[in-house]
Amino acid sequence: MSPFHVTRSLPEDATGAALRTDVRDGLTATPKTLPPKWFYDARGSKLFEQITRLDAYYPTRAEREILRTRATEIAAVSRARTLVELGSGSSEKTRYLLDALTDLRAYVPVDVSESALTRAGEALLAQRPELDVHALVADFTGSLTLPDTPGPRLVAFLGGTIGNLLPPERARFLTAVRSLLAPGDALLLGTDLVKDESVLVAAYDDTEGVTAAFNKNVLSVVNRELAADFRPEEFTHVAVWDAEREWIEMRLRSRTPQTVKIPALDLAVDFAAGEDLRTEVSAKFRAAGVDAELAAAGLVRTHWWTDAAERFALSLSVAA
Ligand code: SAH
Ligand code: TRP
Repeated sequence: MSPFHVTRSLPEDATGAALRTDVRDGLTATPKTLPPKWFYDARGSKLFEQITRLDAYYPTRAEREILRTRATEIAAVSRARTLVELGSGSSEKTRYLLDALTDLRAYVPVDVSESALTRAGEALLAQRPELDVHALVADFTGSLTLPDTPGPRLVAFLGGTIGNLLPPERARFLTAVRSLLAPGDALLLGTDLVKDESVLVAAYDDTEGVTAAFNKNVLSVVNRELAADFRPEEFTHVAVWDAEREWIEMRLRSRTPQTVKIPALDLAVDFAAGEDLRTEVSAKFRAAGVDAELAAAGLVRTHWWTDAAERFALSLSVAA
């Protein structure tokens, strides 16, 4: 049997049912919203990988710098035999951990994007044929059942993706992660840090328009899956810094008054000219805030590493 397994914990139609609920709830709310996990179909996953290579998008490079310089230390502290990675995407930066963890037996990438998991798994298999790669197509905000692989486990959540959850969702998520940790297990968490507004906005509104294409891709997903008639060109990509909540808010702004029909939901949604649809937040953190959120979930931080320019942090924590 191939050492690369893919398990779908989401039944085929659960994805459809969840999308219908999310789209109905989000587009009938005031202000209108759509949850970010629907960005990542095959095209969305590829567009995100393009974002990570943009000059303006510093988080990937900053986090890679930390992993490159600290992987040996992280590995020595965790001694993990299983690496679980939530929202693994391309698993590109993960290579530093996979290479440094000398006792590693199993890698469990978890992502909603089956296409990203398959591409990453195949690339990895070519390089590390001895590794047991057990990919899980699952929603990390739901309840996760991990495969039975040897401990200790290191659970990695990289990319600053935790910032894409709203504060109450983060609290639920961290509590669920805490319940996955046995004594000796640890959580490695990537958090983007609060910094100058101009740097932040540029990272989420690049001049090449890749982020705009990525943001609008969620409309194409709704068109394809629910037979909606969104015209992505009738929306403008907007990224704004909310200084009070310390998050970047991504929006799609309707250029004109328009009505979008979503036959699969028997729904027609009116947009006023200039009306915003909020598609994603990307929260930025400070050490004290990270510690408080970890503590509230029963976790205690043992390590904190940043890149030299202090743009991004990786923290390691264990069950309190
Ligand atoms: N870790 C990678 C990718 C970050 S992009 C990196 O650091 O570059 C966010 C990833 O999380 C995407 O691959 C997306 O498909 C996945 N994702 C987003 N929401 C998710 C959810 N609710 N459950 C599981 N995966 C999710
Ligand atoms: N996790 C990424 C982040 O918050 C996701 C992301 C990057 C994103 N650029 C985006 C999401 C643009 C929506 C639109 O940095």
